[in-house]
Amino acid sequence: MGYKAKFRVWRGEGGDGKLEDFTVEVNEGEVVLDVIHRLQATQAPDLAVRWNCKAGKCGSCSMEINGKPRLGCMTRMSTFEESETITVTPMRTFPVIKDLVCDVSFNYQKAREIPSFTPPADVRPGEYRMQQIDVERSQEFRKCIECFMCNNVCHVIRDHEENKTNFAGPRFLMRIAELDMHPYDVADRKDAAQEEHGLGYCNITKCCTEVCPEHIKITDNALIPMKERVVDRKYDPLVWLGNKIFRR
Ligand code: SF4
Ligand code: F3S
Ligand code: FES
Repeated sequence: MGYKAKFRVWRGEGGDGKLEDFTVEVNEGEVVLDVIHRLQATQAPDLAVRWNCKAGKCGSCSMEINGKPRLGCMTRMSTFEESETITVTPMRTFPVIKDLVCDVSFNYQKAREIPSFTPPADVRPGEYRMQQIDVERSQEFRKCIECFMCNNVCHVIRDHEENKTNFAGPRFLMRIAELDMHPYDVADRKDAAQEEHGLGYCNITKCCTEVCPEHIKITDNALIPMKERVVDRKYDPLVWLGNKIFRR
């Protein structure tokens, strides 16, 4: 059975904008993105929203629904009371371009700062042999759809714009951890994680893990193990001695 829902949507460009109220038709089985599309079709043709797959796989439709980072296309209207006002705002950590669309280029910048997979020079593609357990470990991280909701929600940058230069965010610290776990990657990920990508800023609040639509255990399976390996190395007497001798 259809009903009319109350929607409060952030409208504006750049830093200027305000919440606008709408009453909009909802049909059975619909998700928040359907309702936003109906708003565009019937009342606000210039309402900007980014989306693509409508199947929870492209990561484009990230937004904040009642203050929580969610995918618009995967948030069922049936999870709300019919009488409830549903507030939809853009992700708060990134600059707004227009309405619900923000500029997520911070994330692409951070992606570029991480050196790609670096195999040993004497092993050619086709010669890599990995144990199944190593394959499976990275499979979890590869489910990432780059919705950037984990980076959006992490307080290190959400509440501290000044940390953006020094902190890659959970999505990309996870990428570093994934590469560090790869048996054929020879790049030095540990020092880089700590010194260039801000692993030390993460105080394991786990907000990133809570919002991940792919249910990746970002904190437990990527960030904490990476922190442990960085610490192990720091306190390994042989590494300590090596650093003393070779880094003068
Ligand atoms: Fe989104 Fe999860 Fe990937 Fe973060 S790790 S970008 S929350 S899918
Ligand atoms: Fe941020 Fe996730 Fe760490 S939310 S503080 S990166 S556990
Ligand atoms: Fe692709 Fe929502 S439209 S994840």
